[in-house]
Amino acid sequence: MLDSPNTPLPTTEAEVIEYLQRHGAKDMLRFLTAGSVDDGKSTLIGRLLYDSKMIYEDQLAAVMEDSAVHGTTDTDFDPALLTDGLKAEREQGITIDVAYRYFSTDKRNFIIADTPGHEQYTRNMATGASTCDLAVILVDARHGVLEQTRRHSFIASLLGIRHLAVCINKMDLVDYSQEVFERICLEYQGFAAKLEDIDMHFIPISALRGDNVVDPSENMPWFQGGSLLYYLETVPVSTDRNLIDMRFPVQYVVRPDLNYRGYCGTVASGILRKGNEVTVLPSGRQTRVVSLTTFEGEVEEAFPPMAVTVTLEDEVDISRGDMIVHPNNRPHVAQDFEAIVVWMNDDPLEVNGSYLVKSTTNMVPATVTSLQYRFDINSLHRVDSETLHANEIGRVCVSTHRQICFDAYGRNRSTGCFIIVDRNTNATVGAGMILDREKTAQPVDSTAEPKSTHIRREASGVSVNEREALLNQKPATLWLTGLSGSGKSTIARDLERSLFDRGQACFILDGDNIRHGLNRDLGFNASDRTENIRRVSEVAALLNHAGLIVITSFISPYREDRAKAREIIGHDRFVEVHVDTPLEVCETRDPKGLYKKARAGEIAQFTGIDAPYEAPENPELTLKTADMKIAESTAQIVAYLEEQGLLSS
Ligand code: ADX
Repeated sequence: MLDSPNTPLPTTEAEVIEYLQRHGAKDMLRFLTAGSVDDGKSTLIGRLLYDSKMIYEDQLAAVMEDSAVHGTTDTDFDPALLTDGLKAEREQGITIDVAYRYFSTDKRNFIIADTPGHEQYTRNMATGASTCDLAVILVDARHGVLEQTRRHSFIASLLGIRHLAVCINKMDLVDYSQEVFERICLEYQGFAAKLEDIDMHFIPISALRGDNVVDPSENMPWFQGGSLLYYLETVPVSTDRNLIDMRFPVQYVVRPDLNYRGYCGTVASGILRKGNEVTVLPSGRQTRVVSLTTFEGEVEEAFPPMAVTVTLEDEVDISRGDMIVHPNNRPHVAQDFEAIVVWMNDDPLEVNGSYLVKSTTNMVPATVTSLQYRFDINSLHRVDSETLHANEIGRVCVSTHRQICFDAYGRNRSTGCFIIVDRNTNATVGAGMILDREKTAQPVDSTAEPKSTHIRREASGVSVNEREALLNQKPATLWLTGLSGSGKSTIARDLERSLFDRGQACFILDGDNIRHGLNRDLGFNASDRTENIRRVSEVAALLNHAGLIVITSFISPYREDRAKAREIIGHDRFVEVHVDTPLEVCETRDPKGLYKKARAGEIAQFTGIDAPYEAPENPELTLKTADMKIAESTAQIVAYLEEQGLLSS
């Protein structure tokens, strides 16, 4: 339970964490509360603290007295006064955006991220509340689901909060009606079904009267789902501190004399140990950690949110905003990223306007280069928009004037969030979460109707037969599929030479080349690979229409993608060639050194290592390149084309 009442209440996050650490290794749940102004947030927090007996005697006596004088309720105790009283005490001399309240039960320690005023959500993103595991969403039973409720729920899900406790509050004012509760739950579920990966739990409560907050309510025997506190104590949450990806953004450099250079900052994620080999970004210089010093002295290791001073083995040029990381686990270092932004300013977002972006310890000039869409909060649909007004949420592309280090928010909340600052007023005007680059492409469904309407196909005046006669061949696409290093590109080149020398018009589409141009926006996750193959299939189909023989050289690891390619190109023109080389052989060849890098963890999602390859089931041709010369592979393909009557004789 609490320390002596003479001990001041912890108010900052660091103090609270320190307090809770003293209270043993109990599981910790961080949550925030959301609701419109009158939904009863203060009352609920007061009730939780009061009913779980986390209140000092003298505070309680004062509240009882105040309730009699100022209370806005007919009860002898107004829990909101308790919360507000603590707030006043807390706010003396301290200015912080998010105040952390804590309480603990036998089962868990709790931190409530409590934020003043209507700014609560947007501000939270830039401060500590984005580390919450759960959001308590308050809905007034008399009003049902409001736009504000939807907005808060959506932002909570964007923040990576995976658990929502939806409390239908003020049930006493609707006669504890089961029907009202169920109607609101249905309405909420209809909306929230579109939120990704969210676990929702509905509880009918009266924060004022204490129904279902800490103890089950006798007024609602029809509800058997347990109280809010029971849910908070038992909901399974994994700890959201990222202890894997070590990120140490340098806040400032201390240099008391020529012999000492220390780098101060707060560990954003991961664990930094004495002796660790580290890389300094963006320069990429490698060195080793010599010492880690905290306020209390030297330590062997540091983890979030510890503030430490690091010294390094070599003299490296490091300045504020640089990031110290492990050599094999690096963040993105780039000037462009895509993000979801919540706009917080009365002046709307100016696309191409000049702002400052603050991300970790960096503050850099930046431009929002485009607004891809805005979300309609009620339907969660994407709508085209010129700008974002206050409280609107949209997806944007951001370009910073110099490189910064960041991760996708979904992977690392501390290095994936940023705020946008107005250059003139210095006010925070937006808060954003960086999107995973690997997830940015939306595969296009080639069977769906095109986005444009009022379009029709134009027919060519030159017929297929005329083209075939001119080029003396029948067009086809030789689709080479296989692991990286299997020999696809080598065979493609040899085949192209040999066909060309026989007077055939042919052309290679090669993965590495296409990814430098047409597909430069694509990476290697499943949906990007699907989109890669779709676009290439469309290009191959066009080149076939032009009469050319096309040779494609793509890993194209997914069966379904190759089946779609066959559809797009046409069954009679598509020749699937499996360049079938065992992984061990490809790895031994490792022509670009990529397998080695993938094994060292420097390349993610590498086919055969940590991404799948689905071998063709019925390819037109299989080439076992491990035991074949290149010329033999080429000869087999040419023989097949001749057999099919595609080449001039
Ligand atoms: S595909 O899977 O989408 O078909 P594609 O053939 O375009 O891949 O590109 C593969 C080439 O990209 C490889 O030959 C290799 O040079 C390079 N590459 C870089 N990263 C990866 C990765 N994670 N997985 C596979 N190939 C990669």
